[in-house]
Amino acid sequence: MESENLVFAFHFFIDTITLFMEIVTASILDLNALRKLENESFGKDAWPIFDLIAVLTFSGVIRIKAVEDDQMVGFVAGDPRSNEGWGWIATIAVDQRYRRRGIGRALLHACEAKLGVARSRLTVRISNQAAISMYEKDGYATTEIWNGYYNDGEDGMVMEKELQH
Ligand SMILES: CC(C)(COP(=O)(O)OP(=O)(O)OC[C@H]1O[C@@H](n2cnc3c(N)ncnc32)[C@H](O)[C@@H]1OP(=O)(O)O)[C@@H](O)C(=O)NCCC(=O)NCCS
Repeated sequence: MESENLVFAFHFFIDTITLFMEIVTASILDLNALRKLENESFGKDAWPIFDLIAVLTFSGVIRIKAVEDDQMVGFVAGDPRSNEGWGWIATIAVDQRYRRRGIGRALLHACEAKLGVARSRLTVRISNQAAISMYEKDGYATTEIWNGYYNDGEDGMVMEKELQH
């Protein structure tokens, strides 16, 4: 019983801190913040600035940020391919100071809801245990391994989830 109370208190605490976080559409005005987040989160895999400009401006791309204390603390982009019946989660990252508070999951759900397709797909480094755990917990399953997909030769896992609309 005591452990149930502790679990309840923990979830109440997490729900309360995520109350101060907003999930909103991003724009080109977020370029500098996104560049910083990408570099800190992905290092050698960070997208070049032209890709960041594209993701913040191209029509049809879903771009969503998490904001706390008036700062971008997370970002997700989605690429809907309606004629193919599925869409890609193109990138997702949360500022390391704000991780493990449900922001990644909230961004993922917001992007899935906007994809407007039956299935969501993504690729992840096979060594990226934090992201893989998040995706698996959220119903994603591995469908393929792309050998040597990343620049340094690491394999990529393709994961997929059926979406409910
Ligand atoms: C992956 C990432 C976006 C997760 O963001 P987050 O806000 O910390 O995630 P959440 O707090 O919503 O966690 C959701 C679930 O993911 C899993 N998870 C997240 N971080 C984890 C970690 N370090 N270790 C193990 N599981 C982890 C847990 O199952 C967690 O659920 P729980 O907290 O209820 O146990 C974040 O770690 C990140 O930005 N990583 C660097 C960029 C990156 O790798 N992006 C993915 C590229 S494919």
